[in-house]
Amino acid sequence: MRHSTDILVIGSGIAGLFYALKAADLGTVTIITKRSAFDSATAWAQGGISAVLDPCDSFDQHAEDTMRAGAGLCREETVRLCVTQGPSRIRELIELGVAFTREPSEDGYASRLDLGREGGHTKRRVVHARDMTGAEVQRALVEKVRAHPRIRLMEDKVAIDLITAGRLGLPGENRCLGAYVIDRTSQEVSTWTAKVVVLATGGAGKVYLYTSNPDVSTGDGLAMAFRAGAGVANMEFFQFHPTCLFHPKAKSFLISEALRGEGGILELNDGTTFMERYHEMECLAPRDVVARAIDSEMKRTGDDYVVLRMTHLSPSFVRGRFPGIHEKCLQYGVDMTIEPIPVVPAAHYACGGVLTDLRGCTNLPGLLAIGETACTGFNGANRLASNSLLEGLVFAHEAASATAGLLESLHDVPQRQVPDWNPGEASEPDEQVVVTQNWDEIRRLMWNYVGIVRTTKRLKRAQRRLQLLRDEIREYYWDFQVTPNVVELRNICTVAQLIVECALGRKESRGLHYTLDHPERNDSEWCKDTVLCRKDLP
Ligand code: SIN
Repeated sequence: MRHSTDILVIGSGIAGLFYALKAADLGTVTIITKRSAFDSATAWAQGGISAVLDPCDSFDQHAEDTMRAGAGLCREETVRLCVTQGPSRIRELIELGVAFTREPSEDGYASRLDLGREGGHTKRRVVHARDMTGAEVQRALVEKVRAHPRIRLMEDKVAIDLITAGRLGLPGENRCLGAYVIDRTSQEVSTWTAKVVVLATGGAGKVYLYTSNPDVSTGDGLAMAFRAGAGVANMEFFQFHPTCLFHPKAKSFLISEALRGEGGILELNDGTTFMERYHEMECLAPRDVVARAIDSEMKRTGDDYVVLRMTHLSPSFVRGRFPGIHEKCLQYGVDMTIEPIPVVPAAHYACGGVLTDLRGCTNLPGLLAIGETACTGFNGANRLASNSLLEGLVFAHEAASATAGLLESLHDVPQRQVPDWNPGEASEPDEQVVVTQNWDEIRRLMWNYVGIVRTTKRLKRAQRRLQLLRDEIREYYWDFQVTPNVVELRNICTVAQLIVECALGRKESRGLHYTLDHPERNDSEWCKDTVLCRKDLP
């Protein structure tokens, strides 16, 4: 089957949906998403969206907090762009129907937005919908997208690879021409051509054994862009969220940083506090510091977890402010109003990604990347809490304005020169066990060898094993008919290799990258991005 659209958006989180609503005035927009429109990391976001809305706050302070967390690698222009657009983008979300939590008012009139606080922020500036911000944003955006006459939203469609002029051997400048896409139900592969392709596929937490991310976070956009020749940067900076629920059945359920923002205290199992030994902001230190502190305390004490205490706060406040987390903890037998919550760190956010300019454009004409998929310079070496939904909104806005120019300047897709998917001699997959075995192996080795604290020896071990796995997956990919599971496996392997290569390349510790072999930050040599392109991967 062949399809054509002016703009193809891959992914249905905040960035993809917000972009589609803005770009729909420019041409026909098709969004493809791997599962349902609601399966995105956005829908799981608890904390909120940071924006300067309090008269006591300022853009300068938000920028300063962002750059302090980013440990010298933020691009100042990007930071200024994002923080100054915060209030306008929040206003647009409210106009689209997002119901953010407001301060309680006695007179019954609409009151000001309630602003939460999270780690690394010196002010209260996190706009939220209680502790289910992402779900509320997703609900409103999906509703608007579904009702829009010029947007087609297609679920259960998995992008396999980007189609580029270079790969097809077409003369002239290389550019993106669309994507091959497999239908999850029929397993049929179709050819989608588009003048502009926007990668908004979110992050890649599934590359690690323990993650706060949903199952769809397999780094698809990142891996496809890399294979297509786009530059990828700063993959060594993978953020571990300090507090996910520790429970054998909880699959790393996130315990929002907003709990610490409202006074939650991290303690060891014996009730002693420890964060004062690591940072002057104590429990509200930037995430990299808190995650490393917990990791180090767990290693020192031999405990499987630390705890987050909320019991000193009023139970009615805790239940009202954090209804989702309270409910979820109860399901696992923990009543956070009367007992501490057992927590551990888990992989949470890719600060690196597909390298873009200030408008979301990659080095491949016609290919844009936005949201967690992209590396825009906003996060540097460590993302400040609740800055990610803001970045998604701002870059969706910027990318939509860049799209107007691209639709005018790029020639039409040369349809006859874009062939349909060729399955070649591939036969039916015979051994699913190859997929599950490799999937588990990658995630476990990434957790054990490429986690919060690294060493060159462990990274090299991971590098060797990943090369073997990559060869085995490649063989399987070419010998058998492609399936969504194989597509995801191939992608997490590529992303894992990129993380390891970037981590081996950086001979210092900075932000989220901490290695015992080079424990100091080295500004004279390493105050720069780690950039990789296809030829750099062995
Ligand atoms: C959280 O609620 O702690 C997550 C927010 C974020 O990752 O920015």
